[in-house]
Amino acid sequence: MKKENVYDNVLGTIGNTPLVRLNKITKDVGIEIFAKLEFFNPMGSVKDRIAKYMIEKAEKDGMIKDGQLIIENSSGNTAMGLALVAIQMGYKLKVIVRDRISKEKIDQLKALGVEIHLVDSSLPPESSNSYNNITPLIVEKTPDCYFPDQHNNRENNETHYKTTGPEIWNQMQGEIDYFIAGIGTGGTICGVAKYLKEQNPDIKVIAIDPVGSIFYDYFYFKKMVKPAPYLIEGLGDEFLIKCVDFTVIDDMYKVSDKTSFQYTRELVKQEGILAGGSSGAAIWGALKLAESLKKPARIVTIFPDSASRYLSTIFNDKWMKKKGFL
Ligand SMILES: Cc1ncc(COP(=O)(O)O)c(C=O)c1O
Repeated sequence: MKKENVYDNVLGTIGNTPLVRLNKITKDVGIEIFAKLEFFNPMGSVKDRIAKYMIEKAEKDGMIKDGQLIIENSSGNTAMGLALVAIQMGYKLKVIVRDRISKEKIDQLKALGVEIHLVDSSLPPESSNSYNNITPLIVEKTPDCYFPDQHNNRENNETHYKTTGPEIWNQMQGEIDYFIAGIGTGGTICGVAKYLKEQNPDIKVIAIDPVGSIFYDYFYFKKMVKPAPYLIEGLGDEFLIKCVDFTVIDDMYKVSDKTSFQYTRELVKQEGILAGGSSGAAIWGALKLAESLKKPARIVTIFPDSASRYLSTIFNDKWMKKKGFL
């Protein structure tokens, strides 16, 4: 008899996350909205999927050797996924993170024994020490390391094309009209979108980009705007990156920090779902979309991580007041 829910190691618990119908927060719009709860992954985010996939692929392709150092830049979640993979598969890990990421993420990375390189997030994007520019420089100067490069390596998208997309399609038994999700590296939305559109080209895909990021203006006007600082973690960017595939996106919404964080709190109040700030952006977007629809539809979205990473920020009244969000 096959043992149910028993795994050879913790990596086996990545993926196959639950999809839940939201019933209360949706009551005024009369449209069905389902959310895939990615904080059910062992390190608590959607990024566990790409960490496992990219390193297994690197092993298969002979790109990485036993015990080698992995270097990656991350808003924290990929770093945690890679930390798990590194421990299980026998690698070392150094991560480049912005100093504005939550204290909870830094503390968890420290608990996982990860070497952390903090980047001053007030540096202009063009500075050689900025988050995007410094990583390839560190990689270049470090002999014998492996750089998965989640922002430009399409294996990121491939992960979601092969796992998250088919999971959603099967869980919904093909009954999906819209897929809406935040866009960071683009891996999640573009990988899922490609898979879903191959099953049914009528499915529409909407991305959510934070105010301050450059994707929205490029998508609509092919214009590169000057980026501005914002606080939502994991979404948006200051540069165009290779994992963002605009061809599979039909529409894009722009969301502010304040709206995202207020909706993150609403999710807890109304649904009891303790999710992170980008999930607040996702539900805001899904509700905005639902309000614009004239006939019944099924919307699927993604909640990438958990509130436990933002207790000192989004769920802290003092911090929210200080930032003008309450
Ligand atoms: C909390 C959070 N939400 C959303 C995303 C966006 O996912 P993706 O990078 O696949 O676009 C990320 C990415 O880091 C994230 O950390």
